[in-house]
Amino acid sequence: MSLLVNNSERSFSASDLTGEAGLTAQRSERNALYLAPMEDVTDPAFRALCKRYGADRVYTEFVNADALVRDIASTTRKLTIHDAERPVAIQIYGREPEAMADAARIVEQAHPDFIDINFGCPVKKVAGKGAGAGLLRDVPKMLEIARAVVNAVHTPVTAKTRLGWDENDLHPRVNPLGLSQNYQLSTINSQPSTFIVDLAEALQDCGIQELAIHGRTRSQMYRGEADWTLIGEVKNNPRMHIPIIGNGDVCTPERARECFDRYGVDAIMVGRATFGNPWLFAEMKEYLSTPTTPTTPITLSSPSTLIPRSMAEKVAVLKEHVLASIAWCGNDERKGIIHSRRHFAASPVFKGLTDFKQTRIALLRADTKDEVFAIMDSIVNRYASQVDDEVLQNEIVNRYASLVDQNSRTLELQNSRIPEFS
Ligand SMILES: Cc1cc2nc3c(=O)[nH]c(=O)nc-3n(C[C@H](O)[C@H](O)[C@H](O)COP(=O)(O)O)c2cc1C
Repeated sequence: MSLLVNNSERSFSASDLTGEAGLTAQRSERNALYLAPMEDVTDPAFRALCKRYGADRVYTEFVNADALVRDIASTTRKLTIHDAERPVAIQIYGREPEAMADAARIVEQAHPDFIDINFGCPVKKVAGKGAGAGLLRDVPKMLEIARAVVNAVHTPVTAKTRLGWDENDLHPRVNPLGLSQNYQLSTINSQPSTFIVDLAEALQDCGIQELAIHGRTRSQMYRGEADWTLIGEVKNNPRMHIPIIGNGDVCTPERARECFDRYGVDAIMVGRATFGNPWLFAEMKEYLSTPTTPTTPITLSSPSTLIPRSMAEKVAVLKEHVLASIAWCGNDERKGIIHSRRHFAASPVFKGLTDFKQTRIALLRADTKDEVFAIMDSIVNRYASQVDDEVLQNEIVNRYASLVDQNSRTLELQNSRIPEFS
């Protein structure tokens, strides 16, 4: 089977974006932050930007196993990865163990750091055909696929799944996976437990080396709030020893800290909040590594980091993304702009601006690079001072709030100690 990924022919290089000036991602064991796999979003251009701003691991969009085996060019192109973005996982999906094993062998030729199996995609065209989250209703098949892929390759195999198929899977019961006696001997506990707790153990038994869990069921699709309590239950199961990656609705540095502290996960995977916001990883890293007491002076743009702070700096990153998308789309300007539109539509840079509706419509309609850039420049001219002032004020308020909070906690502590020493 030939692999159509020819790096010398590519028109986009990840080192264009990561470069030496980029923040080098630290492979820390604590507080690791991963870019979630997202179809049509996590292409090499976007992965490289997220990597630059500190993502500890990036994932490709999911790749269809059958199409890989059939050597479909538009699918094999999705295996394009670059050394600068490592560690990188290539994700595959499918419904037949043999085809998944064959696909994994093909993927291995692209030398990813991980091969990830998608057991969570809820959309009809995937789950309805028995792949992705569809396998949550056929756990024996899911485990067969996991074993087949693990046995087919030397690369570490990881998986990503959901809490279960529907609401029924959220409640403890005996043998929630509905496995036969043979399986029960090895993985199933006699006490009632939840579907995801048993599933995680069963996948671990198959040789899956890390498990990402999106805190929703298939029926929820993307509705409601992600439930992290069951993710925490999996992590705290004493029989689990593989890393657990929590996923779902982590949009701010504060929420990331809360999820690490409260649920003890090994890593957090961030998806939608990165749209038009790849520097979110750097903001999260900065927050997670900052002690609660502020020690640095308050300035809007700190020269010691590469995190874009001002509106102009953030817009410059978005422009860079547009250029990289155009390059990834074979230098087709219109295609590259349409491909990156989702990012300007969702970017927090353009949120909450007064009288912005018409400009927003114009930005989302523009289909040449010059037009997009001119609109972006006009936004910066019109709004930057207002936005940057607000950012600075919020930062001051937040820092003082945590300072006051910290001082009162220190005082409380000192007061509570006085009797012991008197
Ligand atoms: C546009 C889009 C495409 C997605 N594609 C994939 C995919 O290819 N593979 C996958 O495992 N999950 C996919 N997901 C799910 C995300 O990886 C993630 O689990 C989900 O968005 C919840 O995380 P979040 O709340 O941080 O966005 C996709 C989600 C979105 C919004």
